[in-house]
Amino acid sequence: MSSPQPGLPPGTETIAIIDYGGQTAQLIARRVREHGVFCELLPWDAPRAVFEALAPRGYILSGGPESVYAPDAPSLPSIVLESGVPVLGICYGMQLLSHALGGRVAPSAHREYGLAELERDAELPLFRGLPQELTVWMSHADRVDMVPDGFRALGHTRNAPAAIMGDPKRGLYAVQFHPEVTHTPFGSKLLGNFVLEVCGCRGDWTPARFIETAVDAIREQVGDGSVLVAISGGVDSSVTAALVHRAIGDRMHAFFIDHGLLRQDEPEDVARLFASLGISVTMVDAADGFLAALAGVEDPETKRKIIGTCFVREFERQAASVGQLDFLAQGTLYPDVIESATSASGSAHKIKTHHNVGGLPEDIEFGVIEPLRFLFKDEVRRVGRELGLPEKVVMRQPFPGPGLAVRILGEVSREKLATLRQADAILRQEIEARAGELGDEQPWQYFAVLTPLRSVGVMGDQRTYGNLVGIRAVTSLDGMTADWARLPADLLTRIATRIVNEVAGVNRVVYDISSKPPSTIEWE
Ligand code: XMP
Repeated sequence: MSSPQPGLPPGTETIAIIDYGGQTAQLIARRVREHGVFCELLPWDAPRAVFEALAPRGYILSGGPESVYAPDAPSLPSIVLESGVPVLGICYGMQLLSHALGGRVAPSAHREYGLAELERDAELPLFRGLPQELTVWMSHADRVDMVPDGFRALGHTRNAPAAIMGDPKRGLYAVQFHPEVTHTPFGSKLLGNFVLEVCGCRGDWTPARFIETAVDAIREQVGDGSVLVAISGGVDSSVTAALVHRAIGDRMHAFFIDHGLLRQDEPEDVARLFASLGISVTMVDAADGFLAALAGVEDPETKRKIIGTCFVREFERQAASVGQLDFLAQGTLYPDVIESATSASGSAHKIKTHHNVGGLPEDIEFGVIEPLRFLFKDEVRRVGRELGLPEKVVMRQPFPGPGLAVRILGEVSREKLATLRQADAILRQEIEARAGELGDEQPWQYFAVLTPLRSVGVMGDQRTYGNLVGIRAVTSLDGMTADWARLPADLLTRIATRIVNEVAGVNRVVYDISSKPPSTIEWE
């Protein structure tokens, strides 16, 4: 079986999720993957050849904001019903399926939004292991009030007589609610039943199988060439490096640029990690160059630009020093691939190459290998565990490319970096020590910020005039939005007390209680 994108292991069973613009379309893909089935999220107007090449064992039609009666409403690609494989329509996908097959879609008397109780009216493989009554999450205006020929209602709610409908003989099903969201407790099970029981997938898309096939694919792509990998210490680049190394051993050249803006012990941790994995990494101490370029610069955007430029120069130096290089390996993930896929009618499925190593020099010619381009972050973490990476790396919180430079407000100096590193290490130690107890308030990202503000304090009998440190801990799913974590008061007290007592020059700590938006997570 071929694939529309290079690198998908041959023989992989696939499900195509057709994206109608619903907010939760990506979640459908994640749920399907959780059941060990590979799936791709494709725009509804992708060229037919894309669907043909994927040859899915089933289609899932996502929700979407339109009404099927709207002019230019997104439509059902003809291949979906022609291919004869099972189909599951969700919300807008249900209305579309109904409309295409001669059912009737009408505005619901009540706009249903939120939780509803659903009663099942059938016993089918789609419902294996599900209770008779299900709590489901609805979000729709239109509903199906006459099911198409061959279909029957398989479940109802108070407002929707056909909240689930299906034609089991043809393997066509549709649900009015959203099984992909966690508010529909048995939704993941239902999606699992669809792909495993109805579509008949094996469910063998496991981390171990992914590794095996990714390693083969890298070997095939690289041949006897060599590969350059820039390691950041984060999970994506670490997993990428571990995979490439497994495939081609010492023909991989890995380097780590220490720009002098890292957290406490970070370069040493990275060196230790890769030594323990038997992977040799060139550690580049570039701090002098970066810090010299940043001297006297206060403006946040200028600081970022300078760091980007220094990074590219250092990258070029490293690439040149290795001699002949054929490929660059990058840790691009599936959400980046989806985001950069254009869906304009008839246009090719365009995939942008992500320059997430900090901006690649344009005059160096490499092939690009992106072994993680089919994976979501949680899948990358599972692959990392399977490869034997320690939990500390697998679960590492995001850290911005420009490092501590965007957490020191104003000019960066070695002294300020030393102060911030100490405060940040205390914050991390204390939060990590309580990690098991924080539940929903377990922060997704947490760090200290050094401000140039000074305030008066008193220590012993002495008046102090010291710097203000801000601490930030946020809950978030993906960094796009965030809320401040409601950390317990005693934990905050302990962090503040330790920072003021242990970090010279700091006499006051404030906790940032702003959400994103309107604030951002980082302070610069
Ligand atoms: P903001 O501050 O925009 O951050 O709310 C959202 C997430 O992105 C991270 N971040 C960066 N990551 N390079 C990166 O690789 C950057 O320049 C950068 N700036 C912010 C930030 O830490 C948070 O996780």
